[in-house]
Amino acid sequence: MNIKQIILTTVVTGCMALSAMAAGFAHNTNTNTNININDMTNNSKKTLVAYFSATGTTMEAATKLAKVADADLHEIVPETPYTPADLNWRDKSSRSSVEMADKSSRPAIANKVENMEQYDTVFVGYPIWWYIAPTIINTFLEQYDFTGKTIVPFFTSGGSGAGETMKYLKPSAPGANWKEPKSLNYMGEAEMKSWIDSL
Ligand SMILES: Cc1cc2nc3c(=O)[nH]c(=O)nc-3n(C[C@H](O)[C@H](O)[C@H](O)COP(=O)(O)O)c2cc1C
Repeated sequence: MNIKQIILTTVVTGCMALSAMAAGFAHNTNTNTNININDMTNNSKKTLVAYFSATGTTMEAATKLAKVADADLHEIVPETPYTPADLNWRDKSSRSSVEMADKSSRPAIANKVENMEQYDTVFVGYPIWWYIAPTIINTFLEQYDFTGKTIVPFFTSGGSGAGETMKYLKPSAPGANWKEPKSLNYMGEAEMKSWIDSL
């Protein structure tokens, strides 16, 4: 090997070593960045309390829940508000009786949740109507992709439990991780907090 060849070999080997080191750093940097981005994404996931309320009872419970859970609050607003006559369960031809007799009814909603992707847990609240959730809740669930999100149903009622709520709600958000529906009838903040912590 003459002197030129020795210099050339040294330069080429040096360059190869430097690019290998650079690639290593780049690789490490990428890995670290990915971890950080994932951590940040996980930390930034939020909770939403979405509710429908015809006469204000569920709204009151939902407002308290959003405060205790440190969550955003969203009212599901029907395109056509329910009048007292619509809510008359003794009248078989009232709007609520007709809707609840037809499980495929989907009453229209006037508003939407901004940026549902930012939430990983969604509490969904409603009054019990005829032992289940009003079908407007099915309309709500079918408007978004809940795949991978946790849905926590809650309700107020005149005394009934959740009845067959889940049988009719689950098919409207099949990819969600569903929790058992909870009655918030007369529930205080302390009890709400321990329920949320137990989820
Ligand atoms: C059409 C209709 C059907 C209802 N069905 C039931 C029922 O099956 N069981 C029950 O305990 N309460 C029933 N209720 C009472 C409501 O669930 C209760 O008053 C609820 O707290 C009202 O919530 P809101 O004020 O948010 O609309 C019914 C009310 C209406 C209007």
